[in-house]
Amino acid sequence: MNLNELKEFDDTYHMSTYGRLPIAFVKGKGTKLWDDNGKEYLDLLSGIGVTNVGHCHPKVVGAIKDQVEMLMHVSNLYYTEPQAKLAKKISEISFGDKCFFANSGAEANEGAIKLARRYAKPKGKDAYEIITALRSFHGRTMKTLAATGQPDKQKPFEPMPPGFKHVPLNDFEALKNEVSDKTCAVMLEVIQGEGGVYPCDYDYLKQVRALCDERDLLLIFDEVQTGMGRTGTMFAYQATGVVPDVMTLAKGIGSGLPIGVLVASEKASVFKPGEHGSTFGGGPVVCAGALATVNVLEEENLVENSRKVGAYFKNKLETLKTKTGMITEVRGAGLMLAIELNEEQARNIVLDLLKEGIVANNIGTTIIRFLPPLCLTEAEVDTAMAAIERLVLERSVV
Ligand SMILES: Cc1ncc(COP(=O)(O)O)c(C=O)c1O
Repeated sequence: MNLNELKEFDDTYHMSTYGRLPIAFVKGKGTKLWDDNGKEYLDLLSGIGVTNVGHCHPKVVGAIKDQVEMLMHVSNLYYTEPQAKLAKKISEISFGDKCFFANSGAEANEGAIKLARRYAKPKGKDAYEIITALRSFHGRTMKTLAATGQPDKQKPFEPMPPGFKHVPLNDFEALKNEVSDKTCAVMLEVIQGEGGVYPCDYDYLKQVRALCDERDLLLIFDEVQTGMGRTGTMFAYQATGVVPDVMTLAKGIGSGLPIGVLVASEKASVFKPGEHGSTFGGGPVVCAGALATVNVLEEENLVENSRKVGAYFKNKLETLKTKTGMITEVRGAGLMLAIELNEEQARNIVLDLLKEGIVANNIGTTIIRFLPPLCLTEAEVDTAMAAIERLVLERSVV
């Protein structure tokens, strides 16, 4: 099908919840994508932070194919090897002692919300509130939408389920003032992704950790976007000196397969049999693909590459900032980067980049975000920067 036929089907048969760009991709390999006309693109978005090891990595594809031919589904009533091995692997590479497998980031966060309430229950407190940050994004289900600190996303679906309080990021006093006997947890993204790539200050996180310890609250890090090497360490918390009690993963761990993971310390692993579950979560195909993904991240030193090439990319963006008043800030770490513009040009620049064969993303009208595959090279950064620089400078007022 060509793009026009696809558009017609989509307009007719699919709910228009996405502001789609006028491109149909048919193939991907490493950092490259190809559209239905055979045009090649450099991908600086990774399907919104998903294809961290590059598109269609042969080892991930191979692991999935092998598993598909062996066993696709049996339910969680039985043991399966890919699930067991993936759970062990996640435990080895993170603070986590136990994990639970879901099918998406939102679902992993739903699990974290339930876990926090469950943790508080036996303590005899009526504690069910979770404090999250303004501008945060935690998902589109009703609870995770209520957790999300973006009123414009909540408005069409009000009333929101109760139990969430939102505070400005990096303002410890504001957070502390919201803690009460009703609070069971604090949930934060170490670097806010959908909100516009806003990092937490490490000192702030340390204060929040101490407060959670003092008040026996669970500290939950939503690492759905920051996890799996994205920010230059396997998990973003590892750069901060702060270890959470609970972490959620999705996106980059599955290379495009639907997976969410709820990771918890022994202390926080409080679900009892029958209290949480999923038909598809932790299925053998998805777990085989995710395990292969984690192995590739390690074998190919992609976390190190994310740190190194990310620093190179950020430096180039900082240099561009010195050449134009149009860029007011460069934010992010590793290969999770953004530039903030003082004019509403982000969408136009992203559309022009697409014409030049570069896939990037705008958040609102003033932020351009880059989440490339972690196998990106410095030469590819140079290619991208040549286009980014030209498109930004030609719009800058001299
Ligand atoms: C930090 C964060 N949490 C949760 C989600 C929701 O994940 P999903 O779309 O897989 O439900 C996202 C998605 O962008 C995210 O960035």
